[in-house]
Amino acid sequence: METQKHRNKNGQINIVLQDKQRDATADEEGKKCLTESNSFSHIDTEFSSFIGMKRLKRTIKEIYATIVINEKRREIGLPGTKQVLHMLFKGNPGTGKTTVARKLARMYFEMDLLSKGHFIEAERADLVGEYIGQTAQKTRAVIQKAMGGVLFIDEAYSLARGGEKDFGKEAIDTLVKHMEDNHNDFVLILAGYPYEMERFLTLNPGLKSRFPFILDFQDYDTSQLMKIAKQMVQSREYELTKEAEWKLRTHLYKQKSQSQYNFSNARYIRNVVEQSIRLHAMRLLTRETFSVNDLIYLTAEDLSLDAQ
Ligand SMILES: Nc1ncnc2c1ncn2[C@@H]1O[C@H](COP(=O)(O)OP(=O)(O)OP(=O)(O)O)[C@@H](O)[C@H]1O
Ligand SMILES: [Mg+2]
Repeated sequence: METQKHRNKNGQINIVLQDKQRDATADEEGKKCLTESNSFSHIDTEFSSFIGMKRLKRTIKEIYATIVINEKRREIGLPGTKQVLHMLFKGNPGTGKTTVARKLARMYFEMDLLSKGHFIEAERADLVGEYIGQTAQKTRAVIQKAMGGVLFIDEAYSLARGGEKDFGKEAIDTLVKHMEDNHNDFVLILAGYPYEMERFLTLNPGLKSRFPFILDFQDYDTSQLMKIAKQMVQSREYELTKEAEWKLRTHLYKQKSQSQYNFSNARYIRNVVEQSIRLHAMRLLTRETFSVNDLIYLTAEDLSLDAQ
């Protein structure tokens, strides 16, 4: 991204030096700079390991495009628009919420939207105190730690658990205040399961409008899960045999139709892959010799699916 940023800057300087006015050439230059430096391809690369997530990828491109165009506008004296980047993630277990939030912290840093780009994960116990006044203090301390980065609050609805009298409400109020005050160098991401998050927003009607980005992390279908499995296997420099693939696909198909509610999506796949690597190792150790292919291929025998 460093080079990309550089290239953008070059693009900007070009326009300033060559032509202070907004004419067709400058416009063309601007467009060219955006597509030529093709920072979208950088975003594509960064997110290429994430299967699906079309809407998220599109959102990141919109954010990036807005930064670039804001810069161009500023150069010719037009006002830029401030981007508020706070987000809500709704999705079932293992749909990638935490992984994406981590990634965004780094990307926002690379895009110069955050000064540090670190990732702070907090839960109810980190924010909510036991006596009056303690909650605001604790929450402020966590926000302070997250300044310049992303504050990720998982199971955010647990803050509304006890209703009006609960100190969780104080944590929400403190967060809201800081989201407004510090939105230039602090991104708040609240995450949780879809139904609970919806309920949380209904109970706190003022919240929704403060999050310009509400993203749904969909459950993966069987073919997406297979892609994720292959990718996880290949990133560890293994391969699945055709039979192993077939066995896994059939199993996933059955799993998805039977246990929709507690199926942990990509995390389930990661567990399957990691376990099959262990079983593969055990299987090979019982042999005297093995070939290169033996060391690479995970077979149907290595997939112990019922244990998952
Ligand atoms: N689209 C995807 N493509 C590839 N891998 C994925 C994808 N989504 C999730 N994973 C992987 O699945 C695992 C679980 O993801 P993660 O922990 O981010 O899920 P989560 O939504 O935060 O789950 P939970 O709600 O249980 O906290 C991680 O190893 C992650 O890399
Ligand atoms: Mg998570």
